[in-house]
Amino acid sequence: MYSKTYQSRGVHPREKVTTDEKMSIIITRWAFFLLLASSVTAQRKIFNIGSYGGRPNGDITQALTNAWKDACASIVPSLIAVPKANYNMGVVLLKGPCKAPSIELHVEGVIRAPSNVAQMKGASQWVQVAYVNAFTLSGNGVFDGQGPVAWKQNDCTHNKKCNWPTMNFGFNFINNSYIMGVTSKDSKNFHVNVISCHNINFSGFKISAPEGSPNTDGIHIGRSKGVTVKNTRIGTGDDCVSIGDGNSNITVENVSCGPGHGISVGSLGRYNNEAPVVGVIIKNCTLTNTMNGVRIKTWPGTPGAIQVSNLHFEDIVMNNVSNPVIIDQEYCPWNQCNKKSPSKIRISNVSFKNIRGTSGTAEGVSLICSAGVPCQNVELNNINLTFKGAKVTAKCSHARPRITANAPAC
Ligand SMILES: *[C@@H]1O[C@H](CO)[C@@H](O)[C@H](O)[C@H]1NC(C)=O
Ligand SMILES: *[C@@H]1O[C@H](CO)[C@@H](O)[C@H](O)[C@H]1NC(C)=O
Ligand SMILES: *[C@@H]1O[C@H](CO)[C@@H](O)[C@H](O)[C@H]1NC(C)=O
Ligand SMILES: *[C@@H]1O[C@H](CO)[C@@H](O)[C@H](O)[C@H]1NC(C)=O
Ligand SMILES: *[C@@H]1O[C@H](CO)[C@@H](O)[C@H](O)[C@H]1NC(C)=O
Ligand SMILES: *[C@@H]1O[C@H](CO)[C@@H](O)[C@H](O)[C@H]1NC(C)=O
Ligand SMILES: *[C@@H]1O[C@H](CO)[C@@H](O)[C@H](O)[C@H]1NC(C)=O
Ligand SMILES: *[C@@H]1O[C@H](CO)[C@@H](O)[C@H](O)[C@H]1NC(C)=O
Repeated sequence: MYSKTYQSRGVHPREKVTTDEKMSIIITRWAFFLLLASSVTAQRKIFNIGSYGGRPNGDITQALTNAWKDACASIVPSLIAVPKANYNMGVVLLKGPCKAPSIELHVEGVIRAPSNVAQMKGASQWVQVAYVNAFTLSGNGVFDGQGPVAWKQNDCTHNKKCNWPTMNFGFNFINNSYIMGVTSKDSKNFHVNVISCHNINFSGFKISAPEGSPNTDGIHIGRSKGVTVKNTRIGTGDDCVSIGDGNSNITVENVSCGPGHGISVGSLGRYNNEAPVVGVIIKNCTLTNTMNGVRIKTWPGTPGAIQVSNLHFEDIVMNNVSNPVIIDQEYCPWNQCNKKSPSKIRISNVSFKNIRGTSGTAEGVSLICSAGVPCQNVELNNINLTFKGAKVTAKCSHARPRITANAPAC
């Protein structure tokens, strides 16, 4: 019901990024009302954080929180503007449900989180957007998590009871929303966590953190339906995009990734209440100097026993990627599991097509499936990867891939 309303108002010209961006800039400068691009005219009310006491070089935690309250309560579509300047900001919760038929946060400024972990007050996310429909995050601004201090303190690789530091963004229980333009920089932990969302698109989003910054996954998606990540550049210290349990209809397209650990489905199977993963398309992506290319990873020796099916990886360019094509059902980082009992995750209907470029190792294709539930219906088609000028080899265990064109045999 709702999506009809916002489409007819034309508030979200979803694919017209530049038009929307230009409009936002014009309105933040000039006007209170916006003549929308569609045939229907709607008012859009502007909430500039300057009117809420937000000043350049000041702390805008309260200004943004108060602007959100008013924008959320607005009866016409609303836009919160954060003009170009530097700001500091503590933890903010941007929570719905909102009365506003749509709500946009347009950021041109550079917003910095406290570098001191204690000042994040144990929050799991620095900027959390929750229970909102038709939300847009836009602009050329930067959200700088100021992670280096937290990275030094991070001992989560060997301390199971470590305190996980704060992620830059949480998009939780939001629908029909659009994230574009802005940059997520140096998050203390994951950059973006997408949980329980429906119909969310990322486009022209940017993520940057140094290689070696711990746990700084780019975009993690969990328990969601219809998430698209497009035209996005991700350089970070951990997975670029990771797709957890309970997801369906996920598309990753024209994403360039590196440094980082690559694009991953999983890890899965660590917990026993996980939901299946069905329908993932990863296409036209480029990975450069990453540890992995495209990967499916599941834990052995754990209770998780879900179905993972219909995963398609195609038109992928690898530049010096250590493990370009990999299914790893013995994923067990830091020896936190028992490899003796095989993974119970059932993987089926997977294809790797048109994968080309250079591998950082001779074994460019590694399909290590579970001895308990071997992989079913895995297709290799046109895998053209080289290591030091020679074609890569393939290693398979409990998998019999169908080679439908040019690929290394197991
Ligand atoms: C999002 O969509 C789901 C499924 O249709 C619905 O249950 C939920 O209430 C919606 N949330 C919001 C904030 O509109
Ligand atoms: C996301 O993109 C898909 C197609 O790529 C489109 O059908 C959908 O309407 C978009 N959703 C939003 C919220 O922009
Ligand atoms: C998949 O999700 C996209 C939004 O990203 C949506 O436009 C499309 O209709 C969905 N397709 C199915 C089959 O649910
Ligand atoms: C692919 O993504 C890049 C940003 O990483 C963008 O500059 C380029 O225009 C995108 N290509 C298309 C066809 O959208
Ligand atoms: C495919 O990826 C290449 C390289 O990243 C990019 O230049 C091109 O625009 C992409 N095409 C589409 C249709 O996204
Ligand atoms: C290849 O990647 C590795 C890291 O995986 C890096 O150490 C090395 O410098 C890269 N080589 C080139 C030529 O970029
Ligand atoms: C795998 O694909 C086959 C053939 O397209 C289909 O019959 C089967 O239902 C699929 N399996 C799953 C688990 O989706
Ligand atoms: C494989 O890639 C090499 C170098 O990128 C290229 O010269 C060759 O034609 C490709 N082979 C096929 C079968 O696509």
